[in-house]
Amino acid sequence: MRVITTIQEMQTEIIKLKSQSKSIGFVPTMGFLHEGHLTLLKRARLDNDIVVLSIFVNPLQFGPTEDFATYPRDFAKDQSLAECEGADFLFYPSVEEMYPHSSSVSVVVNERTDVLCGKSRPGHFDGVATVLTKLFNTVMPTRAYFGKKDAQQVAVVAGLITDFNFPIELIPVDIVREEDGLAKSSRNVNLLPEERRQAVVLYKSLTTAKETIEGGERNPQTIKNLVSNMIRSETNGLIDYVEIYSYPQLKALENIDGPCIIALAVKFSKVRLIDNIILEVSKEIGGVK
Ligand code: PAJ
Repeated sequence: MRVITTIQEMQTEIIKLKSQSKSIGFVPTMGFLHEGHLTLLKRARLDNDIVVLSIFVNPLQFGPTEDFATYPRDFAKDQSLAECEGADFLFYPSVEEMYPHSSSVSVVVNERTDVLCGKSRPGHFDGVATVLTKLFNTVMPTRAYFGKKDAQQVAVVAGLITDFNFPIELIPVDIVREEDGLAKSSRNVNLLPEERRQAVVLYKSLTTAKETIEGGERNPQTIKNLVSNMIRSETNGLIDYVEIYSYPQLKALENIDGPCIIALAVKFSKVRLIDNIILEVSKEIGGVK
């Protein structure tokens, strides 16, 4: 595996590989790799001739009061994990390399940002779309792999790829969880031990919601109340949002039918966690996938 730190060198390598008709699988990350990231890498390894992993903690997507400074980092460990998973290139640019001067152009996301994380984190998805535009132009992938843990990000990236005509196939990958159900996240290390125990309730509340919908409940407010009450009574976390929307459009629903997402974000003392479940709901009772 080669570590590359400059955009120009990465582009030169990719152009060479493309001239040999190699397919390129790309896994963009902010590092501190865990099983979730590694699952994306494994998928990319299976589907492509060449696999590129990027590690870049992107300042543009963090708000002024968010955890950019304390975002966990461990390059040496990430490098060996990426190597073990068979990545061919690790693209690891500095902030100066990615943003050498104040930007003269940036990408603004117009749709699907007034809900969920877009609403609580103004500018976040503009930062994600801007960095991904730069990364896509650097790595020029055939396929790009994104986790459904960030389901709104998947929907925004689908819009970016379509609207800007990137010749890239978007591959969404299922959420990888700890044994007790907590969605794997680089940020989980910033939970206090008691919060880590309580955090199990996030996924438990989503599976309870799913079972209740399977039992015939179709009122979004009833389901939101159920999830919120479980989180309030069983954790010290502060609910940022609990929402149900159509997926991937992310539009409000009067009744739960058709593909939908139940998504939540909860703030603990040093970390904000997100989780979601995507359901295929039909009108009949029990019709849930
Ligand atoms: P990061 O949070 O490092 O996540 C990188 C990728 O790993 C994302 O596609 C994310 O959805 C996926 N991922 C994280 N935890 C996962 C889990 N438990 N199961 C499955 N997939 C998981 O998302 C970002 O970085 C950034 O916004 C980025 C796209 C790199 C742009 O800066």
